[in-house]
Amino acid sequence: MNSLSTKNPLKNLDDWDDFVASRYKEGKAQEEFRNYDPSANPGVAEFYRQNHTLQTVDLVQAKKQEYLPLGKGQKTIWEAAEFLNSLVDDSDPDTDLTQIDHLLQTSEAIRKDGHPRWFVLTGLIHDLGKVLCLYGEPQWAVVGDTFPVGCAYSDKIVFYEYFRENPDSQNPLYQELYGIYGPHCGLDNVHMSWGHDEYIYHVTKSYLPEPAQYMLRYHSFYSAHRHGAYRHLMSAHDEAMFQWVRKFNPYDLYSKGAAKPNLPEILPYYQDLIAEYFPDKIDW
Ligand SMILES: [Fe+2]
Ligand SMILES: [Fe+2]
Repeated sequence: MNSLSTKNPLKNLDDWDDFVASRYKEGKAQEEFRNYDPSANPGVAEFYRQNHTLQTVDLVQAKKQEYLPLGKGQKTIWEAAEFLNSLVDDSDPDTDLTQIDHLLQTSEAIRKDGHPRWFVLTGLIHDLGKVLCLYGEPQWAVVGDTFPVGCAYSDKIVFYEYFRENPDSQNPLYQELYGIYGPHCGLDNVHMSWGHDEYIYHVTKSYLPEPAQYMLRYHSFYSAHRHGAYRHLMSAHDEAMFQWVRKFNPYDLYSKGAAKPNLPEILPYYQDLIAEYFPDKIDW
């Protein structure tokens, strides 16, 4: 086995999102999702190798201590979106879609389906946690399928085999079914691998209704919301709330083909929507 490179393997942070969307192509049988070959997409495979090797209980606790005091300064929602947009990708000539475009495509698709305003807003902000990248975090600590740490890894997690290299896989307690948790202890008591979901949940949780909080916090927890893993840790309340996580997911995955949003036309709507739920500046 090669020693682990710390170089960012994705050309662009969106390569992970595109990989997930291709994995769950609309109408494709779910069972097919593990049938890919690392050599077909070496950047993505290397990304997962880093993610699955380095996301440990200790890492997650260290990142929570670092970020959850929300000491990175105050920003408005729109300033955070513009900050994220500065993550420019020069390497991909096929797309002229920005980070803000993805957020607006998601929220506009939700709006067109007549969902409540807080649901539209959730679409708009769901990936703002990717600003972690601009704080200097490596890709493996920003994006990727999320999963609980401190208990047995589900084989429903994509590239499950890469967990072999994770130091936690040598800890007998962490490899028990419940690990450091108890049966149906509730996901709020479970440490998830660190990334943009957990961060944006904490930044925005006091301003949004609970279904929105679940959508933000667990939108990359594919092994659970797509494949039913980890139900032994979920409470009855988590089960009920995951209906919302599942409702959100197709908008995230399948809105990318939509037309490039006409920002000047829709901006007033979004400024009103943001002002309805958030004060001007919030802590990041
Ligand atoms: Fe995301
Ligand atoms: Fe997204």
